[in-house]
Amino acid sequence: MEDFIAYNPTKLYFGRNAGQNLSTEIKNSGEKILLLTGKGSVKKYGYYDQIKNQLEQAGKKIVEFSGIKPNPIVDDAEKAAELARKEKIDLIVALGGGSVIDTAKMVNMAYANDLPVWSIMKREVTPEKKIPLFAILTLAATGTEMNGAAVLQNHETNEKIGYFSPLMYPKASFLNPEMTFTVPKGQTINGIIDLIAHSLEAYFSGGDAPLADRFVAANILETMDYAPKLLDNLKDYDLRARMMWSATVAENGTTVHGRKTNGDWGTHALAHHISLLWDTPHGQTLSIIFPAWMKALKNAIKNRLENLGYLLTGQKISADETINLFENFFKQIGAPIRMDEIGLGDDDKKQLLELWKINKPTGLNIILTENDYQKIINFV
Ligand code: NZQ
Ligand code: ZN
Repeated sequence: MEDFIAYNPTKLYFGRNAGQNLSTEIKNSGEKILLLTGKGSVKKYGYYDQIKNQLEQAGKKIVEFSGIKPNPIVDDAEKAAELARKEKIDLIVALGGGSVIDTAKMVNMAYANDLPVWSIMKREVTPEKKIPLFAILTLAATGTEMNGAAVLQNHETNEKIGYFSPLMYPKASFLNPEMTFTVPKGQTINGIIDLIAHSLEAYFSGGDAPLADRFVAANILETMDYAPKLLDNLKDYDLRARMMWSATVAENGTTVHGRKTNGDWGTHALAHHISLLWDTPHGQTLSIIFPAWMKALKNAIKNRLENLGYLLTGQKISADETINLFENFFKQIGAPIRMDEIGLGDDDKKQLLELWKINKPTGLNIILTENDYQKIINFV
């Protein structure tokens, strides 16, 4: 096992009454709030009114920034940071899914340190300060509610990249599975794929960490159990709760302790280019890329695939059978596994390959070459 630091300062409230703790938590964090929201789902389904009432009853002043799009962009984060500077806010409340919370994290870094968002993300400058960030999660998928990561895209530089800082963990996050009842079926499928992909990114990050391997397998088995039932019962509290918690655990550190790197992230780096080019939802990009990546890298990761197959089935199965297990599950729940299923053809594949060659996405543990890109593109 490799040396590691276990650090996760986010206080997580989980359950039907989770949101009621918001006013107590923000009490001593200042008076002026920047409230960040997305394109409108939180207003449509009443979550916005619930939260805003609570903030007002707590006697706080509220400045709002709404309209953050899925696959969020650096321009919105910059605009929100500018508003934060103008209004001299004390704390941030993010209400929404990963896109809203990720944007809030970068707004926090840009505002608290008076630095440009993209320079921080490109690691040209290093933030040292933060203000308190509180997250009310409305969509189970990314794990951003209990980690220090954020992902933004920049259409000027043609990049979608992640940034991590220990300063970016939310101070507290509030997870009420009931708030996810309204997440449509397609978006729920995307979330399921994302959390499985996070488990796999952890699994392929090298080093000998058997307990972390078992956590990964347990989370994948748990997900494969509830997912088909949930997709037939989108308003079932227990099934929504199981998904919400498994998505958090897939990306809050539990699955990487003792490994060589904090995840591999090669498939995410490749998949982000599909979102960048065609604004494809994150989950769909992963159900297409992950099986293709496993097939292309099969020889290099053969033992790991066989071990994963054993942990998942209790039987000795081959690397190919393990890959099939995932591909079949993705198909079973209705996720796309080829680019043509989302309306992208051969010219688009060429464009994707060209962009990979320029941006050179790679894993932290499994280094990708141009040769790998070519093999991967043949499988998508
Ligand atoms: O924009 P609104 O109107 O709010 O609608 C959203 C959006 O259309 C909607 N939605 C959210 N909560 C809902 C709801 N609809 C109905 N009922 C609700 N309760 O769902 C759509 C997708 O929202 P989004 O926030 O984009 O989804 P997700 O949480 O999957 O976030 C995806 C983003 O997170 C990044 C992805 O790359 C992508 O940009 N990631 C962040 C990570 C992290 N910070 O750790 C790791 C991940 O690997 C990922 O890269
Ligand atoms: Zn992801």
